[in-house]
Amino acid sequence: MEKKYSIAIDGPAGAGKSTIAKALAKEMGYYYVDTGAIYRTVAYFLDLLGISPKDADGVGRYIDELTVGIEYDETGKQHMIMNGMDVTDEIRTQDISQKASLVSAHKVVRDMLLDMQRDVAKHNNVIMDGRDIGTVVLPKATVKVFLSASPEIRAQRRTDELIAKGQKANFEQILKEIKLRDYQDSNRPIAPLKQAKDAVLLDTSNLDIAGVIAEMKRIVGEKIPL
Ligand code: DC
Repeated sequence: MEKKYSIAIDGPAGAGKSTIAKALAKEMGYYYVDTGAIYRTVAYFLDLLGISPKDADGVGRYIDELTVGIEYDETGKQHMIMNGMDVTDEIRTQDISQKASLVSAHKVVRDMLLDMQRDVAKHNNVIMDGRDIGTVVLPKATVKVFLSASPEIRAQRRTDELIAKGQKANFEQILKEIKLRDYQDSNRPIAPLKQAKDAVLLDTSNLDIAGVIAEMKRIVGEKIPL
């Protein structure tokens, strides 16, 4: 089998991972795997059943009834399939962001999703983003980047994004949610959000999207011919 390249991008919510990963994947002809969407799908499924994301027994009891699928359409967009149903749009709410953060702390959830994520990388060149890609999912990734930015900058970006979409946005509320999610994702015992020892740290606080992409290309270009 031809050697596959993998680029792992980890970092907190709102650091710009998906924007950067998507752009780079398109340019390089790689698959973009948004692993947060997988946890969101689990959270959405349990939410529909009325199971609290903190309820370890409930999560353990119902998780086997869920089949998660990842599909790509002709534009390369990732779709999330929950028991045969496309839930790609439904999982993009603030409520599900929080619930995904809580649900992802359970071992049974992480165990169930690990092989599925590794499998995509085994058969394809991938850019995968999440919280534990460089540390747990793909410890041998060709390139590892930890993307960060201050909570205030991340909250401001999210606020601007929502306003640009014509939606309501409260900066203080968004900042509070970002800090809570940072705390939860970084302090769970299993696969917490942290920079892998061999990851390159890229602080995007003072960079625009073009600037981050240029930096990413420089980092990636050191390991993979572009
Ligand atoms: O990247 P995101 O905001 O869509 O992720 C939603 C939540 O899923 C995040 O707060 C924590 C969890 N997650 C995780 O635990 N591990 C990953 N690799 C990706 C996401």
